[in-house]
Amino acid sequence: MVEQWEDISREGIDKRGCFTVGVSGGRTPIIFYQKLAEWDSKSSWAKTQVFLVDERFVSRDDKDSNYRMLKETLFGKIPIPEENIHPISTGKGSLDASAREYEKDLMRFFKVSKGQCPAFGLILLGIGEDGHTASLFPGSRALSERRHLTAAVVLDEVRHDRITLTLPVINHAEHVIFFVRGKNKAPVLKKILAGDGRSLPASMVQPRTGNLLFVIDQEAVPSSLDKGLATERFAIDAKETEKKRR
Ligand code: 6PG
Repeated sequence: MVEQWEDISREGIDKRGCFTVGVSGGRTPIIFYQKLAEWDSKSSWAKTQVFLVDERFVSRDDKDSNYRMLKETLFGKIPIPEENIHPISTGKGSLDASAREYEKDLMRFFKVSKGQCPAFGLILLGIGEDGHTASLFPGSRALSERRHLTAAVVLDEVRHDRITLTLPVINHAEHVIFFVRGKNKAPVLKKILAGDGRSLPASMVQPRTGNLLFVIDQEAVPSSLDKGLATERFAIDAKETEKKRR
């Protein structure tokens, strides 16, 4: 996967002088971020602009903060200029104000006006057991947001209120990659790949012209996969593969 990041990054830098990427939180991508942190291409990092796909409405040092996880696994370990990292501000004001502020940051950076969508080079996503992705949960109003680039999502104390990129932004990206790990994800993944989970947020991720890829570990592979499901959109980032390389 690190090679894939490098390729997509090179593509962005060659095309427009910079690589824009949206990164997700959750446990699944941690190993990937740790490996990616070993990529010591100073010149590439200098041209990489990293945005957060979503954030919990907690302070940056909270154990549930996505920014904190990313700082510990990636940002704090790579030679990236601080101004190339675009966290979602959660320090002050209301959840709505935070979402609007993040939208303004995006519009300013990508130089888009109201009604236009930024085109990220890459967006990395995870999938929850309930089919949520980013902070877009089943049944949430944020799923039908079409005008705004970001949305405020009210949840509960455990999951925390959140700010998320909306579907139009995700579906406008040039590359979208889902990371899926663990056997608890196999049932939901099966629905998504078979196309019978259309109301699930992760199924609504359908890049208009971009590429969509699922990177899945062996345990999350639904047993029906060998019957030919979604093969060309599918890569198994399995322990097996890692073993073979060593
Ligand atoms: C977050 C994510 C969220 C995550 C899924 C999967 O900030 O938590 O953006 O959408 O990707 O919940 O989480 P796990 O990787 O922990 O299973």
